[in-house]
Amino acid sequence: MSELSEAYASHVVPTYGRFDLDIESGAGCRVRDFEGREYLDFGAGIAVCSLGHSHPEVTAAVADQASRLVHCSNLYRTAPQAQLAQRLVEITGPGKAFFCNSGAEANEGLIKLARRFGSATSRHRILTFTNSFHGRTLACIAATGQEKVKKDFGPLPEGFAHLPFNDLEAVRAAVDEKTIAILVEPIQGEGGIHPATPEFLRGLRELCDDRGMLLLFDEVQCGLGRTGDWCGWRSIGEGVEPDGVSWAKGIANGFPLGSFWVSSKKFDERGPLCDLLGPGSHGTTYGGNPVCCAASLKVLEIIERDGLLAKSSELGNALAAALKSLESPLIQEIRDIGLMVGVELSPDFPKTKRTPALEVVNRAMAAGLLLIPSGERVIRFLPPLNVDSREIDEAVQKFAAVLKGVSTAA
Ligand SMILES: Cc1ncc(COP(=O)(O)O)c(C=O)c1O
Repeated sequence: MSELSEAYASHVVPTYGRFDLDIESGAGCRVRDFEGREYLDFGAGIAVCSLGHSHPEVTAAVADQASRLVHCSNLYRTAPQAQLAQRLVEITGPGKAFFCNSGAEANEGLIKLARRFGSATSRHRILTFTNSFHGRTLACIAATGQEKVKKDFGPLPEGFAHLPFNDLEAVRAAVDEKTIAILVEPIQGEGGIHPATPEFLRGLRELCDDRGMLLLFDEVQCGLGRTGDWCGWRSIGEGVEPDGVSWAKGIANGFPLGSFWVSSKKFDERGPLCDLLGPGSHGTTYGGNPVCCAASLKVLEIIERDGLLAKSSELGNALAAALKSLESPLIQEIRDIGLMVGVELSPDFPKTKRTPALEVVNRAMAAGLLLIPSGERVIRFLPPLNVDSREIDEAVQKFAAVLKGVSTAA
């Protein structure tokens, strides 16, 4: 047992199932443990470090901002928050941005937006999807379409129903007089990399328009470049635009920042939707903190400057193609969109003590490759957007060797 694992066991609330790895530092696509052993990190902190670890320009932007102002609360204005809001509006469309500290908080804000919007017509019900993941606050676990996150935490906020993903008929049938919004991940991440179909997103938009409901996209995992577009939903198809969007993860390369955008559309006499949450209605002390906003501005600048949207799309295709070319009988399916690549293992995966996903991820870690499990049988490859083709080759080779090792051991 390492010193760190003893300290965690004694002093850290054991909410996380952690891997047996103590990380000392990271640079680019690699992290190191305390013995100096290197790991190729194809998880990027669960789709967070879009520019890799300790990106020097992000570090410099943070140091510069921290040397001038770290925090002043939302009682006052700061330049990084204003600039970042402007950038997010440019990326997304006419509207306004709110800042918080995590993905769950960003979704919580969208849920509050929907509730306030619905208060005028006594509607509060929000439709979400089976296998979705929206975060760990009470409202977000109520919104999440997975029973395991809700267990023992009831009573939960009511008014959420989970429908089968990509099943428009089921959604149409579920809308009732109390329904006010649909919250959907355009690409389900924790659920195992499942993209929505273009027809599904289009159908949801039409349904929301017909019934005066809000269409809300949770882009916490798939947003801001990972799919090869700033907006994950636009990688799926053009022509569908949401009324609200949540982000976190890749927004600031590891600095804790979440955000939601709200459209300036006018639905009723209360005015633009983006002004519905007025003074005193919502907030958080650290939200839009100047250091995190400075980090985010630098991240978005570098993604644009270095053409990383196009690159992540190209390299994602190359990664998925290389994984498909392994033609391993242990792989059932590979689903990919940009640098969100999910490998679903076969139901005939040899019996092991751990789930198939955990077996493979642990073996990959032992071989110097970090990957992210998703449920029992899916493994996610979520490298930084500035990964290069040699790193992709190296990861695929290591992964192939791991699968071979499993077949040989069986
Ligand atoms: C789609 C999605 N929404 C929300 C969240 C919650 O984000 P956070 O962990 O920052 O609260 C996650 C985290 O994995 C996510 O993938």
